[in-house]
Amino acid sequence: MKKEKVCVVGLGYVGLPLAVQAALRGYEVYGLDRDESKIKKINSGKSPIKEEFLHDNLSKVDIHATTDESIIKKCDIVLVCVPTPIDEKFFPDLGPVKGAVEMIIKNFKKGQLIVIESTINPGVCEEIIEPIFAQSGLKVGRDYEMAHCPERIDPGNKKWNVTNLPRVVGSFTKKGLNQAKKFYESIIDGEICAMNSIREAEATKIIENSFRDVNIAFVNELAKSFDKMGIDLVSVIKGASSKFSFMPHWPSCGVGGHCIPVDPYYLIERAKLSGFDHEFLKIARKINNSMPEYTVELLQDALNKVKLPLNGTTIGVLGLSYKANVDDLRETPALKIIDKIEEHGGKVLKFDPYFPEMSDAKTIETILKKSDAIVVVTNHKEFVEIKPEIFKKARIQVIVDGKNCLDKEAIEKLKIVYKGIGR
Ligand SMILES: NC(=O)c1ccc[n+]([C@@H]2O[C@H](COP(=O)([O-])OP(=O)(O)OC[C@H]3O[C@@H](n4cnc5c(N)ncnc54)[C@H](O)[C@@H]3O)[C@@H](O)[C@H]2O)c1
Repeated sequence: MKKEKVCVVGLGYVGLPLAVQAALRGYEVYGLDRDESKIKKINSGKSPIKEEFLHDNLSKVDIHATTDESIIKKCDIVLVCVPTPIDEKFFPDLGPVKGAVEMIIKNFKKGQLIVIESTINPGVCEEIIEPIFAQSGLKVGRDYEMAHCPERIDPGNKKWNVTNLPRVVGSFTKKGLNQAKKFYESIIDGEICAMNSIREAEATKIIENSFRDVNIAFVNELAKSFDKMGIDLVSVIKGASSKFSFMPHWPSCGVGGHCIPVDPYYLIERAKLSGFDHEFLKIARKINNSMPEYTVELLQDALNKVKLPLNGTTIGVLGLSYKANVDDLRETPALKIIDKIEEHGGKVLKFDPYFPEMSDAKTIETILKKSDAIVVVTNHKEFVEIKPEIFKKARIQVIVDGKNCLDKEAIEKLKIVYKGIGR
């Protein structure tokens, strides 16, 4: 058993796997969360999140989960993994991070290493978090050390997980950097890359996700353009991928999750304070935000081909999660697509095996039988595996494939109208 005690604040998609990983590597780990029901589940060895790593490992370790913040006092290392959302006007909300920092100060133990894992824009540690500590008379480098080690976890990713993902780390002081680097090297097999400053570490994560957002926006814009020209974009991207420098990104019915559609706004707003306007990022966000509406336009066009109006037609929506094989609804395009269909008078039947309580039937077959058309929003394994004949048997007339995950040719052969995004 290693000496340091670790407290993970926020036991969600990021904090819980991290807590389990630290415990697997021999640390005494305490997990702190506000959510009583989550704590109960975790302490009974069950994961509140459907995720393979947690499914396999949570019951092997004891992470002493609690809602009692005084647990922080016991610990030498405090890892902050609380949400960093945006509000309805796309404005960053640092409330949960500030709340966690205030809680740490109230339960402070001299010499603690505090690591912020939540995604934050460059400047948050120096301009917001450190001043909160300073107001309480606590000085970084003297009373505590602080580092930022942004999380890169991709729930559901079979290759990259909390154990092997390389990480970057930045700190206020050399001592803080060394302590944080040593800690992460002791729990993670991936490379730990030391940055020159805490601000650089913050900026690294933000540009990683902004990079994804602009590239996805580019292919989403191409999808709209190629739909007009009748070119299959998916096929074109596959062709372009044979060039050494081409990095494929794929069009879809929308960008969801707690990261890609959120993080660029943190950079946009912080840069604005320094007098810079991130036009490119704003356009990318606008394009990606337009995709759910575009998907419903494609649905209307496809229904027209079989002389069905959207108004009064029953549309089966397959998938509520924002991505395949996870139970995460945050920023999901599904809810926007459903709202739009209903605005036009369409009748929606929802189905997602990860959200049985939100589904309108117990089985996919029942949804198909009751629907005239289908919109696939999530490429869950269960949907990708549906044989085209099953759609035909259920008399589905139109399929809009929001993730380009179905066999277009096989579906068209059965005389079902198929429309993908740019395909
Ligand atoms: N989800 C991802 O795939 C992912 C990947 C990389 C980075 N991140 C970043 O990691 C951070 C956390 O994301 P997440 O997906 O784990 O969020 P989450 O919502 O799944 O989990 C956050 C947890 O923090 C708890 N919480 C909030 N305020 C608290 C407080 N003051 N004290 C104790 N607990 C508190 C919530 O109850 C919740 O259980 C965010 O900044 C996010 O951008 C997320």
